[in-house]
Amino acid sequence: MHSYSSVRVGVAGATGYAGQELVRFLARHPGADLRLAMGSSATSAARALPALARLWDGEVQPLDIDRLAAETDAVFLALPDSASGELGPPLVAAGARVFDLSGAFRLRDDGLRKRWYPEVPAMPPGVAYGLTERNRAAVREARLVACPGCYPTAALLALLPLAAAGLLQGDIIIDAKSGVSGAGKAPSERTHFSECHGNVGAYGIFGHRHAPEIEQELGLLVTFVPHLVPLDRGILETIYAKLEPGVTARQVADTYRAAYADAPFVRLTGDALPEIKHVAHTNFCDIGWRVDAASHRLVVVACLDNLVKGAAGQAVQNFNVAFGLDEGEGLS
Ligand SMILES: NC(=O)c1ccc[n+]([C@@H]2O[C@H](COP(=O)([O-])OP(=O)(O)OC[C@H]3O[C@@H](n4cnc5c(N)ncnc54)[C@H](OP(=O)(O)O)[C@@H]3O)[C@@H](O)[C@H]2O)c1
Repeated sequence: MHSYSSVRVGVAGATGYAGQELVRFLARHPGADLRLAMGSSATSAARALPALARLWDGEVQPLDIDRLAAETDAVFLALPDSASGELGPPLVAAGARVFDLSGAFRLRDDGLRKRWYPEVPAMPPGVAYGLTERNRAAVREARLVACPGCYPTAALLALLPLAAAGLLQGDIIIDAKSGVSGAGKAPSERTHFSECHGNVGAYGIFGHRHAPEIEQELGLLVTFVPHLVPLDRGILETIYAKLEPGVTARQVADTYRAAYADAPFVRLTGDALPEIKHVAHTNFCDIGWRVDAASHRLVVVACLDNLVKGAAGQAVQNFNVAFGLDEGEGLS
């Protein structure tokens, strides 16, 4: 199945939600040769992933950074921030190209990183922020690609073109809803079935680490309010902003169209507002919007699958860009 020119890849964290999605994509990827999928500890027994039977019949191996460095050219880290923070720099030093799904290397300002990711002391050299559609050139050159968070991916794809074109006044409010898989597979009091089933709640107001990530990339202050909703997967963000006086609906539409003319995974839906079921299990981010020109108000709705475009899919998209493959390879 794999050609001799396939890139040898490994996945650390293959037993997690995002890691299993990575294995699912990479096992069928024509440009990747999935050599190693690893669990959380050096002493864990090798085991299969029943959900992926017949899609991938390998075994998850004990975690071994030396094997990852020696036997692969590209390593995907689908680990908690602290574990990525520890494994990323030595893998880069050993010559691997690293695609990190955690938050460990997303914040470039040392002070901000110390506050939000105190377990990550330093950035390795050659880090790119991997919002593919906006950063292809940097991803191509990077040694380590810090893949964006799931909430920031939707918010930034929705807002960056408008901010870059100078159409936004500010006063940006991001009302975000996420399915429960966004919190990973270990249940907590908040994500326990009996707590979240039939329930909706806000959390992390002025205290969520995705807010500084959005602000870093956007260069504007945002009010970011995430909510947990009783879905297994998917994120939908309703974004409210003020437009500069005189900005028309046509200008907004033209700006989006120009920004995403060559973006296979951004679907502009215009007046037809996006829904989570339209993007579940896909690498698409759908963006719809409405403008009230008289009052300069803009509402954008953006949605994606947190485990695909918000995590594993975007990481594979970055891998494709980094290795000069078609951006959509292995993602259909
Ligand atoms: N879930 C999402 O929607 C999403 C979206 C974007 C980014 N992310 C980020 O992606 C990363 C993985 O998220 P997830 O939701 O897949 O998490 P998860 O379901 O909790 O899986 C975590 C994975 O890391 C392994 N692990 C746990 N502690 C470890 C340690 N100390 N050392 C090495 N491996 C360890 C686990 O192995 P065991 O199975 O053996 O415990 C498992 O394979 C996180 O950094 C998360 O923030 C997640």
